[in-house]
Amino acid sequence: MRINKYLATCGVASRRNADKMIQDGLVKINGRICSMGDDVNVGEDTVVVNGKVVSVVKHFDYYIMNKPKGYVCTVKDDKGRKTVIDLLPPSAKRLFPVGRLDYDTEGLLILTNDGDLTFRLTHPKNEVPKTYLVKTEKPVSDEDVQKLRSGVYIDGVKTKKCNIRLIESTKTGSKLHITITEGRNRQVRKMFEAVNNNVDFLKRIKIGDLTLTGLDRGQVRQLSAREVDYLLNL
Ligand code: URA
Repeated sequence: MRINKYLATCGVASRRNADKMIQDGLVKINGRICSMGDDVNVGEDTVVVNGKVVSVVKHFDYYIMNKPKGYVCTVKDDKGRKTVIDLLPPSAKRLFPVGRLDYDTEGLLILTNDGDLTFRLTHPKNEVPKTYLVKTEKPVSDEDVQKLRSGVYIDGVKTKKCNIRLIESTKTGSKLHITITEGRNRQVRKMFEAVNNNVDFLKRIKIGDLTLTGLDRGQVRQLSAREVDYLLNL
């Protein structure tokens, strides 16, 4: 099994973060620092990360969180800021967040030690729909909505078609729902910047049809088997 997939299967990190650990030279196979494309003979090779032997996780945990703003979506923050892991119960501290919400973004976040689910939900080819509630600094015109729907340029690359529902507009700004199937860095904020606006408030309210119903800001709960199954097949 490819080393990054193996580390995800061991609940060490998502595949993407596993790649970073490998590049940083933190991973050894049978005593030798490994490189990106290396394979592991599962059950035979000894894999060590940060000095600790890792093994395949047989039990996966899945949580849903209503992330408040002011928390970083990493396991450890270099700047000592609060992380989403701080909001998990002690028994779930070894999970990692699936994808990222910005420090200032709130809403639906999945946390798990299942690297496979992480990969499915975050790989661009799977086009998993994520819906956000957006409040903007200035009113959004119908023309802007049209532009955002058909795609705007972020860092020289056009965004894919997306769904937008303008809920209300006043002189001081607009409220919208936007559903995107990509997960580029700060995508929603940058999309509104591309039409000369700014996002004042951003909350992820759905992944597929999974919502935050019943979860207050900062609360977490375990996902049911049915919900996990739903996400694995999205
Ligand atoms: N888009 C953003 O701009 N920020 C997020 O946190 C998520 C999507």
